[in-house]
Amino acid sequence: MSVTILGIESSCDDTSAAIIRDCVLMSNVIASQKVHEAYGGVVPELASRAHQQNIVPVVSEAIRQAGLTKDDIDAIAFTRGPGLPGSLHVGTSFAKGLSLALNIPLVDVNHLHGHVLAHFIKETPETVVPEFPYLCLLISGGNSQIIKVNSPSDMEILGQTIDDAAGEAFDKCAKVMGLPYPGGPIIDRLAAEGNPDAFKFSKPRIQGYNYSFSGLKTSFLYTLRDELKVNPNFIEENKADLAASLQKTIIDILMTKFTKAIKDTGIKTIAIGGGVSANSGVRAAVEEYARRHHLTAFIPKRTFTTDNAAMIAVAGHYRFLDKQYCDITAPPFARVII
Ligand code: KG4
Repeated sequence: MSVTILGIESSCDDTSAAIIRDCVLMSNVIASQKVHEAYGGVVPELASRAHQQNIVPVVSEAIRQAGLTKDDIDAIAFTRGPGLPGSLHVGTSFAKGLSLALNIPLVDVNHLHGHVLAHFIKETPETVVPEFPYLCLLISGGNSQIIKVNSPSDMEILGQTIDDAAGEAFDKCAKVMGLPYPGGPIIDRLAAEGNPDAFKFSKPRIQGYNYSFSGLKTSFLYTLRDELKVNPNFIEENKADLAASLQKTIIDILMTKFTKAIKDTGIKTIAIGGGVSANSGVRAAVEEYARRHHLTAFIPKRTFTTDNAAMIAVAGHYRFLDKQYCDITAPPFARVII
């Protein structure tokens, strides 16, 4: 019997709804919030207000684009956390209301599991998905983790950042350069024109598979501060080289630990996920490493790297099969608990 899941995502500043049937994508609607651009970062109160405006039209549109009616849905999967509490409340409350109205099960999803399982979104029934176990480098604005994925419900965190996430390193350094938020995609574009060896920034020396990006951020800031004393136009004249050198350093840091974990575990299937996995340099580095070491690499389509409900629906699909239903009284959580 086929299983049709409606996924709802509202953890930060994207309101998204998607329909999947047996993990095959039928629709994935995303309403991004432009309102934050003027503030240089996401403003939580504005985000939850925008989710309230967007949630009904976004869910209706996802059902319409799938060519279904609400009565065709078997279960509702929603992001329960982690994320901004006000934003999560909107998706959580809407999902609960709709599941009560339709009298269908409700399934709660950990947003991070969504990113890790995004590779199971099938664009056609023939889409090839990873075999278990696989190693996933999860890199976003809030997380940098190396995860051993044993099954959809069994994930082991081998390493994670002890301070900033990779996305924060991109965004904060971009901010120091005077670039708008989020700076990650802009650094990526600028880096394509620059020399990655023009500048050297410090890299962390920490044990195991953990990451740290705060030292790099400080080293980047001090380089700019010192150079600007000598030449006030330093940033403008070296934008592309700064971006390329910063991107190269972040990729080196990410790949050093990820490749160590790959070697130590001997796992032959690797994957990346999260907003920073949209980065051209990261994608190229992982692909190149996989090619040289005869590994199978799963690189998500860019639409599935940022927050989207398709990945929530897929993660929810597996929880639904395991009968991991969510109680109607379950609150959203800002930090991870499932
Ligand atoms: O996964 P995501 O949408 O949000 C979180 O759940 O955190 O990731 C957002 C992060 C931001 O830091 C953004 O700058 C970064 O992903 N990002 C990129 C690129 N596209 C998005 N960083 C570097 N290169 C990109 N192309």
